[in-house]
Amino acid sequence: MKTELIAVVGSTGKTGARVLAQLNSMGIGARGLSRNSQVPFDWENRVTWPAALEGVRAVYVTYYPDLAVPQAEADIREFVAVAKQQGVEHLVLMSGRGEEGARRAEQVVETSGLAWNVVRASWFMQNFSESFMLDGLQAGELVLPQPNASEPFIDVDDIASVAVAALTNPALRNQLLEVTGPELLTFDQCVQAIANASGREIGFTPVPVDAYLEGAKAEGLPDDIAWLINELFVNVLDGRNEHTTNTVQKVLGRPARSFADYVARVSPEVWGGSDVSDPKNEPPGNR
Ligand SMILES: NC(=O)c1ccc[n+]([C@@H]2O[C@H](COP(=O)([O-])OP(=O)(O)OC[C@H]3O[C@@H](n4cnc5c(N)ncnc54)[C@H](OP(=O)(O)O)[C@@H]3O)[C@@H](O)[C@H]2O)c1
Repeated sequence: MKTELIAVVGSTGKTGARVLAQLNSMGIGARGLSRNSQVPFDWENRVTWPAALEGVRAVYVTYYPDLAVPQAEADIREFVAVAKQQGVEHLVLMSGRGEEGARRAEQVVETSGLAWNVVRASWFMQNFSESFMLDGLQAGELVLPQPNASEPFIDVDDIASVAVAALTNPALRNQLLEVTGPELLTFDQCVQAIANASGREIGFTPVPVDAYLEGAKAEGLPDDIAWLINELFVNVLDGRNEHTTNTVQKVLGRPARSFADYVARVSPEVWGGSDVSDPKNEPPGNR
Protein backbone atom coordinates (compact mmCIF):
# COMPACT_ATOMS: atom_id res chain seq x y z
CA MET A 1 0.00 0.00 0.00
CA LYS A 2 1.24 3.52 -0.84
CA THR A 3 2.23 5.89 1.91
CA GLU A 4 0.56 9.31 1.94
CA LEU A 5 3.88 11.11 2.29
CA ILE A 6 4.12 14.48 0.52
CA ALA A 7 7.58 15.98 -0.09
CA VAL A 8 8.16 19.74 -0.17
CA VAL A 9 11.24 20.85 -2.15
CA GLY A 10 12.53 24.18 -0.82
CA SER A 11 10.86 23.63 2.53
CA THR A 12 12.62 26.53 4.27
CA GLY A 13 11.76 28.99 1.48
CA LYS A 14 8.95 31.52 1.19
CA THR A 15 6.28 29.21 -0.21
CA GLY A 16 7.75 25.85 0.88
CA ALA A 17 7.81 26.67 4.60
CA ARG A 18 4.15 27.68 4.46
CA VAL A 19 3.11 24.62 2.43
CA LEU A 20 4.91 22.35 4.92
CA ALA A 21 3.32 24.12 7.91
CA GLN A 22 -0.18 23.80 6.41
CA LEU A 23 0.31 20.09 5.65
CA ASN A 24 1.61 19.50 9.19
CA SER A 25 -1.39 21.31 10.69
CA MET A 26 -3.71 19.09 8.62
CA GLY A 27 -1.97 16.00 10.02
CA ILE A 28 -0.68 14.98 6.58
CA GLY A 29 2.66 13.17 6.56
CA ALA A 30 5.12 15.59 4.93
CA ARG A 31 8.89 15.62 4.35
CA GLY A 32 10.72 18.91 4.04
CA LEU A 33 13.57 18.91 1.54
CA SER A 34 16.45 21.35 1.06
CA ARG A 35 20.23 21.22 1.26
CA ASN A 36 19.94 21.28 5.07
CA SER A 37 17.03 18.89 5.64
CA GLN A 38 17.33 15.58 7.49
CA VAL A 39 17.26 13.81 4.12
CA PRO A 40 19.25 16.35 2.06
CA PHE A 41 18.20 17.46 -1.41
CA ASP A 42 20.46 19.59 -3.61
CA TRP A 43 19.54 20.78 -7.11
CA GLU A 44 23.28 20.87 -7.84
CA ASN A 45 23.90 17.27 -6.76
CA ARG A 46 21.58 14.81 -8.54
CA VAL A 47 22.93 11.93 -6.44
CA THR A 48 20.79 13.27 -3.58
CA TRP A 49 17.50 13.12 -5.49
CA PRO A 50 16.45 9.41 -5.36
CA ALA A 51 16.73 9.06 -1.57
CA ALA A 52 14.92 12.37 -1.07
CA LEU A 53 11.92 11.06 -3.05
CA GLU A 54 11.86 7.53 -1.63
CA GLY A 55 8.38 6.56 -0.38
CA VAL A 56 6.86 9.83 -1.58
CA ARG A 57 3.36 9.94 -3.16
CA ALA A 58 3.20 13.62 -4.13
CA VAL A 59 5.73 16.42 -4.31
CA TYR A 60 5.59 20.24 -4.21
CA VAL A 61 8.54 21.66 -6.18
CA THR A 62 10.17 25.07 -5.91
CA TYR A 63 13.23 25.44 -8.12
CA TYR A 64 16.22 27.49 -7.01
CA PRO A 65 17.10 30.23 -7.84
CA ASP A 66 14.24 30.64 -10.34
CA LEU A 67 12.45 28.53 -12.92
CA ALA A 68 13.34 31.16 -15.55
CA VAL A 69 17.08 30.28 -15.56
CA PRO A 70 18.38 28.23 -18.53
CA GLN A 71 19.37 25.21 -16.38
CA ALA A 72 15.85 24.78 -14.97
CA GLU A 73 14.32 22.85 -17.88
CA ALA A 74 17.01 20.13 -17.84
CA ASP A 75 16.87 19.83 -14.04
CA ILE A 76 13.06 19.55 -14.00
CA ARG A 77 13.23 16.93 -16.78
CA GLU A 78 15.65 14.82 -14.75
CA PHE A 79 13.70 15.44 -11.53
CA VAL A 80 10.52 14.13 -13.21
CA ALA A 81 12.40 11.00 -14.35
CA VAL A 82 13.68 10.31 -10.82
CA ALA A 83 10.23 10.99 -9.36
CA LYS A 84 8.68 8.43 -11.72
CA GLN A 85 11.36 5.85 -10.86
CA GLN A 86 10.58 6.37 -7.17
CA GLY A 87 6.85 5.88 -7.66
CA VAL A 88 5.76 9.49 -7.18
CA GLU A 89 2.22 9.92 -8.54
CA HIS A 90 1.58 13.67 -8.46
CA LEU A 91 3.83 16.73 -8.93
CA VAL A 92 2.88 20.34 -8.15
CA LEU A 93 5.31 22.86 -9.68
CA MET A 94 5.71 26.45 -8.46
CA SER A 95 6.16 28.66 -11.52
CA GLY A 96 6.26 32.30 -12.61
CA ARG A 97 4.16 34.22 -15.15
CA GLY A 98 5.42 35.21 -18.57
CA GLU A 99 8.84 33.56 -18.26
CA GLU A 100 9.89 31.56 -21.34
CA GLY A 101 12.23 29.31 -19.34
CA ALA A 102 9.53 28.62 -16.78
CA ARG A 103 7.06 27.76 -19.55
CA ARG A 104 9.46 25.12 -20.92
CA ALA A 105 9.76 23.57 -17.44
CA GLU A 106 5.96 23.66 -17.03
CA GLN A 107 5.59 21.73 -20.30
CA VAL A 108 7.95 19.02 -19.02
CA VAL A 109 5.65 18.54 -16.02
CA GLU A 110 2.42 18.75 -18.03
CA THR A 111 3.58 16.03 -20.43
CA SER A 112 5.30 13.87 -17.80
CA GLY A 113 2.55 11.25 -17.51
CA LEU A 114 2.32 12.03 -13.78
CA ALA A 115 -0.72 13.71 -12.30
CA TRP A 116 0.32 17.38 -12.29
CA ASN A 117 -0.43 20.93 -11.30
CA VAL A 118 1.35 24.14 -12.13
CA VAL A 119 0.83 26.98 -9.65
CA ARG A 120 1.94 29.94 -11.78
CA ALA A 121 2.21 33.06 -9.66
CA SER A 122 2.72 36.79 -10.05
CA TRP A 123 5.48 38.52 -8.05
CA PHE A 124 5.35 37.71 -4.35
CA MET A 125 4.45 40.43 -1.81
CA GLN A 126 6.95 38.77 0.53
CA ASN A 127 9.80 39.79 -1.82
CA PHE A 128 9.52 43.08 0.12
CA SER A 129 9.95 41.45 3.54
CA GLU A 130 11.70 38.09 3.08
CA SER A 131 13.86 38.52 0.00
CA PHE A 132 16.08 40.73 -2.13
CA MET A 133 14.15 44.00 -1.60
CA LEU A 134 14.42 43.94 2.20
CA ASP A 135 17.94 45.39 2.52
CA GLY A 136 17.10 48.50 0.49
CA LEU A 137 13.86 49.11 2.40
CA GLN A 138 15.68 48.80 5.73
CA ALA A 139 18.33 51.24 4.48
CA GLY A 140 15.61 53.76 3.52
CA GLU A 141 15.99 53.60 -0.26
CA LEU A 142 14.99 50.79 -2.59
CA VAL A 143 17.02 51.04 -5.80
CA LEU A 144 15.85 48.77 -8.63
CA PRO A 145 15.96 48.60 -12.42
CA GLN A 146 13.12 50.66 -13.89
CA PRO A 147 10.04 48.40 -14.01
CA ASN A 148 7.93 49.07 -17.11
CA ALA A 149 4.65 47.73 -15.76
CA SER A 150 2.40 47.46 -12.74
CA GLU A 151 2.22 44.05 -11.09
CA PRO A 152 -0.58 42.21 -9.23
CA PHE A 153 1.67 41.16 -6.31
CA ILE A 154 0.34 38.07 -4.49
CA ASP A 155 0.53 37.10 -0.83
CA VAL A 156 2.62 33.96 -0.43
CA ASP A 157 0.14 32.68 2.17
CA ASP A 158 -2.44 32.53 -0.64
CA ILE A 159 0.00 30.69 -2.92
CA ALA A 160 0.67 28.12 -0.19
CA SER A 161 -3.06 27.57 0.36
CA VAL A 162 -3.63 27.05 -3.37
CA ALA A 163 -0.65 24.65 -3.55
CA VAL A 164 -1.97 22.65 -0.58
CA ALA A 165 -5.41 22.49 -2.24
CA ALA A 166 -3.74 21.20 -5.41
CA LEU A 167 -1.82 18.58 -3.42
CA THR A 168 -4.82 17.35 -1.47
CA ASN A 169 -7.93 17.81 -3.66
CA PRO A 170 -8.05 15.30 -6.55
CA ALA A 171 -10.70 17.44 -8.32
CA LEU A 172 -7.99 20.04 -9.04
CA ARG A 173 -5.54 17.61 -10.69
CA ASN A 174 -4.00 18.27 -14.12
CA GLN A 175 -4.70 22.00 -14.11
CA LEU A 176 -2.62 25.11 -14.48
CA LEU A 177 -3.58 27.43 -11.63
CA GLU A 178 -2.50 30.99 -12.47
CA VAL A 179 -2.67 33.03 -9.27
CA THR A 180 -2.33 36.79 -8.69
CA GLY A 181 -3.17 39.32 -6.03
CA PRO A 182 -6.36 41.37 -6.36
CA GLU A 183 -4.93 44.67 -7.72
CA LEU A 184 -2.27 46.08 -10.03
CA LEU A 185 0.32 48.09 -8.10
CA THR A 186 3.48 50.01 -8.98
CA PHE A 187 6.66 49.39 -6.99
CA ASP A 188 6.40 53.00 -5.83
CA GLN A 189 2.91 52.42 -4.40
CA CYS A 190 4.15 49.33 -2.54
CA VAL A 191 7.15 51.16 -1.08
CA GLN A 192 4.95 54.06 0.06
CA ALA A 193 2.52 51.65 1.77
CA ILE A 194 5.47 50.06 3.59
CA ALA A 195 6.91 53.47 4.53
CA ASN A 196 3.55 54.57 5.96
CA ALA A 197 3.13 51.35 7.94
CA SER A 198 6.64 51.47 9.39
CA GLY A 199 6.56 55.21 10.15
CA ARG A 200 9.74 55.89 8.15
CA GLU A 201 10.68 57.76 5.03
CA ILE A 202 11.59 55.16 2.42
CA GLY A 203 12.27 56.12 -1.17
CA PHE A 204 11.98 54.16 -4.40
CA THR A 205 14.65 54.96 -7.00
CA PRO A 206 14.28 53.29 -10.40
CA VAL A 207 17.44 53.32 -12.54
CA PRO A 208 18.16 52.11 -16.10
CA VAL A 209 18.76 48.36 -16.00
CA ASP A 210 22.25 48.56 -17.56
CA ALA A 211 23.45 51.05 -14.95
CA TYR A 212 21.88 48.96 -12.17
CA LEU A 213 23.58 45.76 -13.32
CA GLU A 214 26.94 47.45 -13.87
CA GLY A 215 26.90 48.74 -10.29
CA ALA A 216 25.67 45.47 -8.82
CA LYS A 217 28.27 43.42 -10.73
CA ALA A 218 31.04 45.74 -9.50
CA GLU A 219 29.84 44.87 -5.97
CA GLY A 220 30.06 41.13 -6.72
CA LEU A 221 26.65 40.18 -8.17
CA PRO A 222 27.18 36.80 -9.92
CA ASP A 223 26.58 36.69 -13.70
CA ASP A 224 23.69 34.21 -13.46
CA ILE A 225 21.77 36.38 -10.99
CA ALA A 226 22.48 39.45 -13.19
CA TRP A 227 20.97 37.50 -16.10
CA LEU A 228 17.91 36.71 -13.97
CA ILE A 229 17.41 40.34 -12.89
CA ASN A 230 17.60 41.46 -16.52
CA GLU A 231 15.12 38.73 -17.53
CA LEU A 232 12.64 39.70 -14.80
CA PHE A 233 12.80 43.49 -15.19
CA VAL A 234 13.24 43.79 -18.97
CA ASN A 235 11.42 40.78 -20.39
CA VAL A 236 8.83 39.86 -17.76
CA LEU A 237 7.86 43.27 -16.30
CA ASP A 238 7.13 44.64 -19.79
CA GLY A 239 3.34 44.75 -19.51
CA ARG A 240 2.61 41.14 -20.54
CA ASN A 241 1.43 40.29 -17.00
CA GLU A 242 -0.54 43.47 -16.32
CA HIS A 243 -3.77 41.70 -15.42
CA THR A 244 -5.26 39.82 -12.47
CA THR A 245 -6.88 36.38 -12.25
CA ASN A 246 -9.64 35.10 -9.93
CA THR A 247 -8.01 31.70 -9.32
CA VAL A 248 -7.53 32.27 -5.57
CA GLN A 249 -11.27 32.96 -5.22
CA LYS A 250 -12.15 29.90 -7.33
CA VAL A 251 -9.87 27.50 -5.45
CA LEU A 252 -10.15 28.85 -1.90
CA GLY A 253 -13.67 30.31 -1.99
CA ARG A 254 -12.45 33.72 -0.76
CA PRO A 255 -10.74 36.70 -2.41
CA ALA A 256 -6.96 37.01 -2.70
CA ARG A 257 -5.40 39.06 0.12
CA SER A 258 -4.60 42.70 -0.60
CA PHE A 259 -1.23 44.43 -0.26
CA ALA A 260 -2.68 46.51 2.61
CA ASP A 261 -3.59 43.31 4.43
CA TYR A 262 -0.07 41.91 3.87
CA VAL A 263 1.60 45.09 5.15
CA ALA A 264 -0.63 45.08 8.23
CA ARG A 265 0.46 41.52 9.08
CA VAL A 266 4.21 42.23 8.87
CA SER A 267 5.84 43.70 11.97
CA PRO A 268 7.05 47.26 11.12
CA GLU A 269 10.35 46.29 12.78
CA VAL A 270 11.08 44.07 9.78
CA TRP A 271 11.40 47.27 7.70
CA GLY A 272 13.35 49.15 10.37
CA GLY A 273 10.30 50.87 11.85
CA SER A 274 8.92 50.47 15.36
CA ASP A 275 5.69 48.87 16.45
CA VAL A 276 3.61 51.80 17.74
CA SER A 277 1.22 49.40 19.46
CA ASP A 278 4.13 48.34 21.70
CA PRO A 279 4.13 50.70 24.78
CA LYS A 280 7.93 50.75 24.93
CA ASN A 281 8.02 52.41 21.47
CA GLU A 282 5.68 55.29 22.33
CA PRO A 283 7.25 58.74 22.34
CA PRO A 284 8.04 59.87 25.95
CA GLY A 285 5.29 62.56 25.85
CA ASN A 286 2.64 59.82 25.46
CA ARG A 287 3.50 58.05 28.70
N1 LIG B 1 9.72 35.55 -5.86
C1 LIG B 1 8.76 35.71 -6.74
O1 LIG B 1 8.18 36.82 -6.84
C2 LIG B 1 8.32 34.57 -7.60
C3 LIG B 1 7.21 34.74 -8.45
C4 LIG B 1 6.77 33.66 -9.22
C5 LIG B 1 7.42 32.44 -9.14
N2 LIG B 1 8.51 32.29 -8.33
C6 LIG B 1 9.16 30.97 -8.27
O2 LIG B 1 9.21 30.51 -6.93
C7 LIG B 1 10.29 29.59 -6.80
C8 LIG B 1 10.99 29.88 -5.50
O3 LIG B 1 10.10 29.56 -4.46
P1 LIG B 1 10.24 30.24 -3.05
O4 LIG B 1 10.31 31.73 -3.22
O5 LIG B 1 9.20 29.65 -2.19
O6 LIG B 1 11.67 29.72 -2.59
P2 LIG B 1 12.81 30.58 -1.89
O7 LIG B 1 12.25 31.44 -0.80
O8 LIG B 1 13.65 31.18 -2.97
O9 LIG B 1 13.57 29.44 -1.08
C9 LIG B 1 14.66 28.78 -1.48
C10 LIG B 1 14.57 27.34 -0.93
O10 LIG B 1 15.37 26.55 -1.76
C11 LIG B 1 16.37 25.93 -0.96
N3 LIG B 1 17.59 25.87 -1.77
C12 LIG B 1 18.45 26.86 -2.09
N4 LIG B 1 19.41 26.38 -2.90
C13 LIG B 1 19.13 25.07 -3.10
C14 LIG B 1 19.75 24.01 -3.82
N5 LIG B 1 20.88 24.20 -4.52
N6 LIG B 1 19.18 22.80 -3.79
C15 LIG B 1 18.06 22.56 -3.08
N7 LIG B 1 17.41 23.51 -2.38
C16 LIG B 1 17.96 24.74 -2.38
C17 LIG B 1 16.51 26.75 0.31
O11 LIG B 1 16.89 25.95 1.42
P3 LIG B 1 18.42 25.60 1.80
O12 LIG B 1 19.17 26.89 1.80
O13 LIG B 1 18.27 24.96 3.14
O14 LIG B 1 18.91 24.65 0.75
C18 LIG B 1 15.06 27.21 0.48
O15 LIG B 1 14.32 26.19 1.14
C19 LIG B 1 11.20 29.78 -8.02
O16 LIG B 1 11.14 28.65 -8.83
C20 LIG B 1 10.61 30.97 -8.74
O17 LIG B 1 10.65 30.79 -10.13
C21 LIG B 1 8.95 33.31 -7.55
